[in-house]
Order: sequence, then structure tokens, then C-alpha cells
Amino acid sequence: MNNFEFHNPVKIVFGEGSIAKISELIPKNAKIMMLYGGGSIKNNGVYDQVIQALDTFSYIEFGGIEPNPKYETMMEALHIARKENIDYLLAVGGGSVIDGTKFLSAALCIDENEDPWEILQGKIEVKNGVPLSCILTLPATGTEMNPNSVISRKSTQEKLSFGSPFVMPKFSILDPKTVASLPERQIANGIGDAFIHVMEQYLTVPKNTPLQDRWAEGVLKTLIEEGPKVIENKNDYEAAANFMWSATMALNGILSRGCVEDWSTHVIGHELTALYNIDHARTLSIILPGNMNVRRNVKGDKIAQYGERVWGITEGSKDERIDATIAKTVAFFKALGLETRLSDCNLEEDTCKLVADRLEQRGVINFGEKGDINHGVITAILKDRL
Ligand code: NZQ
Ligand code: ZN
Repeated sequence: MNNFEFHNPVKIVFGEGSIAKISELIPKNAKIMMLYGGGSIKNNGVYDQVIQALDTFSYIEFGGIEPNPKYETMMEALHIARKENIDYLLAVGGGSVIDGTKFLSAALCIDENEDPWEILQGKIEVKNGVPLSCILTLPATGTEMNPNSVISRKSTQEKLSFGSPFVMPKFSILDPKTVASLPERQIANGIGDAFIHVMEQYLTVPKNTPLQDRWAEGVLKTLIEEGPKVIENKNDYEAAANFMWSATMALNGILSRGCVEDWSTHVIGHELTALYNIDHARTLSIILPGNMNVRRNVKGDKIAQYGERVWGITEGSKDERIDATIAKTVAFFKALGLETRLSDCNLEEDTCKLVADRLEQRGVINFGEKGDINHGVITAILKDRL
């Protein structure tokens, strides 16, 4: 096992009716900006619950944060938050609203003459953040309990991320009742994204981490068992609760402590979203099977372990078991309604080189758990999924 440090200070308040508790958790004298997305919270009762709980607080609202939150939109929020001397941020929504709020939290703490985009380029080190908290309405990203944020810039078609302990939420409210209003497409996205978060931390090279492996396999099996129940019936509270907690556990840092990670499926996937606006999870369900197939020389031992323990695949040579495991994974994604090939999104061969070129131009090369993913490997992974 590798050496590690672990500190996750995010308070989780889980369960039906927990939104009202924000009135006890936010400091009374806070000057709050409440941030939300395109309006789903106004149709499912979440907005009303928040407004009621904020009754005695001083707050302003900032709505309209879009899926794959845009830098341009968050710059508008930054302008208003500076003008209004905001000192507390409350994100109400899915991963996009929360990520946008994390970026705002960091941007509010840099000099006004500095360029906030440089936070995402890694040129400005985040040294502080305005306190923020979340009410999560879409189980998927794990952002409610991690330090990461992913922001897209419309003008340059870039999708970049940063991470800082200073933007970890003070608390996150997880009410599984919010799942009931999600469109089926977003439920499938959430199951797929959470599943592949586990894979990026687990499906690498063996490092004698039996406890972490079994935690990871536990989250995967729970998503396989509970996910379809949520798709079948969004009002199944117990299934929604298990889905929601699985998605948080999938990316709150616990699973990967001491392990070797590989976020290459995400790195390549972000390019597909930036270029073609494909939903985040759907880029991953296309790329992961190609990553498993093309890089079986690196991931083979863990793929075989995953195949046996999660899908019960024990027969045949190692390569046959790997093939069967990839087939099971693809079938699971398809059953959720996720795309698994570039052609499912009407993309053709020119995409493969274009994505590899863009990553290479940005200096994103020699990544993955063995540092072996270069222009040729990226192209091969994508060609595998034509
Ligand atoms: O904008 P509104 O109207 O709220 O509608 C949203 C949006 O259209 C809707 N929605 C959310 N909760 C709902 C609901 N509709 C009905 N009922 C509800 N309860 O769902 C749509 C998608 O929302 P979005 O927040 O974009 O989805 P998600 O949570 O999947 O977030 C995706 C973003 O997170 C990033 C992705 O790259 C993408 O930008 N990620 C963030 C990570 C992190 N910070 O750790 C890790 C992930 O790998 C991922 O990269
Ligand atoms: Zn993801």
C-alpha cells in the first residue's frame, strides 16, 4: 500500500426532510449567495424548502448555472458577489452548480487584478476559499464531499479542473427525495459517472490494498443492484438513498487512499464534452471499455479480479475473461441507456486524432497509472470505440 494522508471535513446531513436543517448550520450573520441551475429546483419543491429555511437570513440568489458550468457565467456571479460583499455560498443543485460555486469560492479570494482562469490552469495556487455548503439534488459526481471542481470555458472550448481543500463544503445536505424529480437520462448519468469514478481508482495495478478493493467492489455491486431499481421507480426512496450514498462514497477520497489511480477515462472524456457537448457520464461509458481493452497489458490483473468478484467471471484464459468482463461492463452501461461507442453520438474517425492532438498540445501526455498514455494510445482507445 502507498503512504497516504486522509482528511475529509465535510459534514454530511443525510435523509428525507434534512434541507430544513440549513437554518441551524449556516452562521446567522452570514451574507449568503444562494446559487442554482436552470430551474429544476423551482419545479420539485427544493427551492421553496430552501427559501423557507433561509427566512431569517440575509441572502441574494444567483440562478442559471448551466450543466458543465461555464466560466463566463461564474464570472457574472463573481462580479455580483464582490459587489455585494458576499461571505457565504450555498449551492443548490447537481454537480455543475456545486462545481461552479467551488470555483467562485476560490475566485473570491484572489486579487481583483488576477485572472481567475489561472486557477484552472494551475497558475494561481488556491490559498483560501469563501465558506460554501451544498444541497445536492443529483447523485453522480461526489463533488458534495470532495475538493474538486470542473469548469468549461465557452470561448475556447476548454474544460479544466482544479482541486483545493479550501473549497470543500462545510456541510452537504443529501435528501434522497430529490431523486424523484430527476429525468431518467440524469439518473443513468449519475449511476454511470459514480461507477466509473470507482473504476478510475480501482481498475489500475495491484498494490496489495484488499480493504480498498473490497470497498470499491462493494460500491460497484451496490450501483449494479440499486441503480436499475431507481430507473424503474424514481419514488423508491430506499433505492434512491442507496444510490445517493454510493455516489458520494465513490468519490470522497476514501476508496483511493493507498492505491494507484488512473483518471485517463475522465481526461479524455472531458475533451468530448468540451468539443461536442456530450453529457459527462456518456463520454466515460464510451471511453472506459476502450481503455480496458487497449490497456489490458497494464490493467489486466485488476480487470480479471473485477470480472470475477463483481460479475462472477471465472472461466477461460485471462484474455477471454478480460473480454467477457468488458462485454458485461458494456452491457450494464447499455442497459442504463448510456452510449458505449463514438458512433452512438454520430462521431467518426477524425475525432480520435483531434482529441489526441488537443491533449498533446496542452501538454497532457504520458499520463495514466504507468505514464504510458501518449498520443498513440489515446488514438487507439478512441478508435477501439468507433
Ligand atoms: O440546471 P437544473 O435546472 O437544476 O437541471 C439540472 C441539469 O439540467 C438537472 N437536475 C439536477 N438535479 C435535478 C435535476 N432535474 C430534476 N430534478 C433534480 N433533482 O440535471 C441536469 C444535469 O445537472 P448537472 O449538475 O450538470 O449534472 P451532474 O451532477 O452530473 O454534474 C456534471 C458536472 O460535474 C462534473 C462534470 O464534468 C460536469 O461538469 N464533474 C465533477 C466532479 C467533481 N467535482 O468531483 C467529478 C466528475 O467526474 C465530473 O467531472
Ligand atoms: Zn466523473
